[in-house]
Amino acid sequence: LFATVHLRVPKRINTELEAYIEEKKAEINPRYKLHYHVTPPVGWMNDPNGFSFFNGEYHVFYQFYPYDSQWGPMHWGHASSPDLVNWEQLPTALLPDEEMCYSGSAIVKDDQLVLLYTAHVNTDIDPFYYESQYLAFSDDGINFEKYEGNPVLPVAPDGSPDFRDPKVWKHGDYWYVVIGSKTPDDRGRVLLYRSPDMISWEFLNVLGESTGNMGYMWECPDFFEINGRHILLMSPQGMEPVGDRYKNLHQTGYIVGTFNYETFEFVPEVDFQEIDFGHDFYATQTTENDGKRILIAWFGMWETPFPEAVDGWAGAMTIFRELVLHGDRLLMKPIDAMTSLREETVWDGKFEEGEKISFDKTLELIVTSDLNQKINIQITGSNGGDQILLQWDPEVRKVVVDRDGDIRQVEWSPIDSKSWRIFLDASSMELFCGEGEVVFSSRIFPNGEWLVTNLSPQSVDVVAYKLRRSVP
Ligand code: FRU
Repeated sequence: LFATVHLRVPKRINTELEAYIEEKKAEINPRYKLHYHVTPPVGWMNDPNGFSFFNGEYHVFYQFYPYDSQWGPMHWGHASSPDLVNWEQLPTALLPDEEMCYSGSAIVKDDQLVLLYTAHVNTDIDPFYYESQYLAFSDDGINFEKYEGNPVLPVAPDGSPDFRDPKVWKHGDYWYVVIGSKTPDDRGRVLLYRSPDMISWEFLNVLGESTGNMGYMWECPDFFEINGRHILLMSPQGMEPVGDRYKNLHQTGYIVGTFNYETFEFVPEVDFQEIDFGHDFYATQTTENDGKRILIAWFGMWETPFPEAVDGWAGAMTIFRELVLHGDRLLMKPIDAMTSLREETVWDGKFEEGEKISFDKTLELIVTSDLNQKINIQITGSNGGDQILLQWDPEVRKVVVDRDGDIRQVEWSPIDSKSWRIFLDASSMELFCGEGEVVFSSRIFPNGEWLVTNLSPQSVDVVAYKLRRSVP
């Protein structure tokens, strides 16, 4: 008798939760809180989600648990920015109902911001969970309503319970999505679908799959074109270390290849390469705006300590990076707008052997040296805590990041600039070598006033800026 036209489940801002967040925020110990990286207002953060540009603003959502500084039933936290540098905290965008709101992506469709995310539901029977894909809509980019017809993608083609982290894009008349999954014999894979309306989805192909040594599950896939080639970026879980490579519990990296929208086949041309060599980097997401492909990642890693957790929060995003394909490799550079954070020049010139720069919490440091000589830059705190050494060894031509003896190192052959650009922020270090050929992202926890010391056997050239606060 009645035509049902309830297409959306009203789910507006939860004022109780927002009041709780404001109250708890006041109790946070700010000593490690980052000044120009997106962090949760309180509680726990992992993957970036829904990175998009809508109505003149960038939006970043994130895996969020407001009630404790460790992982719990997932919400989507939310922040927006006009320029990827100055961020504003927005109300929590998605709250769990019967489902936890796992990672996903966003796209603008018919003047709405549409979220496509994984609903993770725990059950009593083996394998004790299943995952499907849900939609949520927003007219204003602040209030989100879950679609009443969820799930739009109920199950993986082979029924695998691991079926998550949809990344959506538009090409021609269709929306496409890649979703992370695994084979029945535990090899990571990425599935490709398309849809004429984002509601009904058609399975197209397995876009990529581990042949055995690339982990048991591929999380957070992303797929995009640069210079006419296609990049499959993802986070394989459980790759074994090989020499200097794959030293974290899980990795993030990419495969360069070609893709055909007629056969839906992705032909890899280059083996998997890690995109960041630091201790704390995972679950990337990219978006394109103004012809630029911008990347961010969770500045963290599973099953590692989060020293800030005792302060009432845990986890952060990296700074935003622009991707450029150079030959067969992705270069990752801080976005241009990062220079707008420079507040004051604290050093400009020779930095003699043994000399120190002391500073309060934030610094951008540009180090230039003769690469036929050793470089050794030390970062310490006046009250102890972590000691970090950033080194260059001309014999083996490797950059070394030594965090209290836990070493990450990788060969570097500069394609142009021979400088290091180092971003330091209250409990973080990001090192960009040259044009972004080699990047390390590591959380670091020196206590008290920070000191940068030149332990190289010669002077190096240094420009250093104090950076201003740009996040709440
Ligand atoms: C990656 C991940 C995703 C999942 C989310 C849960 O870090 O495990 O695969 O959607 O985190 O918080």
